[in-house]
Amino acid sequence: MSYAVSLPDQGTFAAWRDAARRAISHRIAPERIDWTGGGLFAATPLPTASGPHEIRVSQHFLSLARSVVWHKLPDRFALLYQALWRLDRGDPLSPADPLGRRLQLMAKAVGRDIHKMHAFVRFRELPLGGPRRSFAAWFEPEHNTLEPGSAFFVNRFADMDWLIATPRLTARFQSGRLTFGPGGAKPDLPEDASEALWATYFANIFNPARIKLDAMRSEMPKKYWKNLPETRLIPAMLADAEARVQRMRDAGASEPRPGAAPVSTRYREAMPQSIEAPGTLDQARQAALMCRRCDLCEAATQTVWGEGPADAAVMIVGEQPGDHEDLAGRPFVGPAGRLLRDVMAEAGLDDARAWLTNAVKHFKFTPRGKRRLHQNPNRGEIRHCRWWLGLELAFVQPRVTLALGASAAFALTDDDRPMHQRRGMVETGLHGGPVLISWHPAHILRLRDADRQRHARLQLAEDLAKAAAMAETAPMIHTPSGTFPAACR
Ligand code: URA
Repeated sequence: MSYAVSLPDQGTFAAWRDAARRAISHRIAPERIDWTGGGLFAATPLPTASGPHEIRVSQHFLSLARSVVWHKLPDRFALLYQALWRLDRGDPLSPADPLGRRLQLMAKAVGRDIHKMHAFVRFRELPLGGPRRSFAAWFEPEHNTLEPGSAFFVNRFADMDWLIATPRLTARFQSGRLTFGPGGAKPDLPEDASEALWATYFANIFNPARIKLDAMRSEMPKKYWKNLPETRLIPAMLADAEARVQRMRDAGASEPRPGAAPVSTRYREAMPQSIEAPGTLDQARQAALMCRRCDLCEAATQTVWGEGPADAAVMIVGEQPGDHEDLAGRPFVGPAGRLLRDVMAEAGLDDARAWLTNAVKHFKFTPRGKRRLHQNPNRGEIRHCRWWLGLELAFVQPRVTLALGASAAFALTDDDRPMHQRRGMVETGLHGGPVLISWHPAHILRLRDADRQRHARLQLAEDLAKAAAMAETAPMIHTPSGTFPAACR
């Protein structure tokens, strides 16, 4: 008798494993099964109950199968079953074996396809106006990789709703739950700010000194270009590459770029006359999104601007966005941010009532393998970015500002005395208002000793409660409207 197996588009691996186990438990030979659903034979489904024969397979084979099932080749399930049949008979698949090699290549192709999806999916914001921001993307994978590739997006974009449509399947992540549905034709997605963001990101990571066109084409194959907003920039960037290399050489490794004149207190005279101060908080945010005052914009994904009510009585200033914040474009959404928000809640300071921001608006890191390791910003970078912090202070006009850690304390006061001398003290900021100094939550997370960690956490809670109380009583600091404190330039 011949059998036909039809496997679903979702949960394909579990379905194949279950069918293959049942088939082999009845010792049904590979040539008697049509894994494409029965087009070739009169369709008899596999027995629903298991037979007497038991099989054990290695983790290695299972992980190979877990990849191969997503390959586009219609033969994939049959090839896997042939391999399973051979393994059951004690006939191992050596790397030189044609079947073993073929399966390895298929698994590799699937891995590459998943990697491409992670690199080339481009979300566009949908103006739905719900409590969570909503994004959609269209992608055309080479293989059936949306299901295995989706976990990555769940981890990265857990606090948004999103949808990735492909011709075969659609992944929908809504209110923290991932589901799959049928695919379809390319939807009409709006052009939005995230298009511009990708273009900016790409323009920023584009290193003209390292152009290798062949490598570029193989890393970003042309077939993906049509759905990538940033590829519109490629011709212009290539044309400008030589001049940019020269500009980068002139600028030196850690100096600000030409045109990004120092804007610190110390170098105020050097402020180019042409830079006009934005007139509103939103204009400041828009301008900051394009900031190229120092080299940190080269590698960071995006500017992370402050967040909160525009008239918040408390401003909380951290050091700089971390890995999570850099990807999400929002301050304090990673582990340190979670600790801060927890302690704020304990201290009775509602995070929706505070303006949360950072001394430096771009993530500074060193790549280490696939990870991006945080690096402290230096004084020059903090001073360059003080321009933005000054604008936030001027427009929000908080009654009290909390500096978390040494970088924020330096940004706000230009004083770099060590933290253990200053924590819990109220100092006067460059903008003229009170600055309460406290521990950075990342510092608390790094403390190994549990008692010291508990103690530092309590101190942070104390400082947050003090800031909340000061916000009720501290006088308003008047800064001329539409400008920013001169000392912060
Ligand atoms: N650390 C900071 O200083 N700021 C953030 O936004 C996140 C982590």
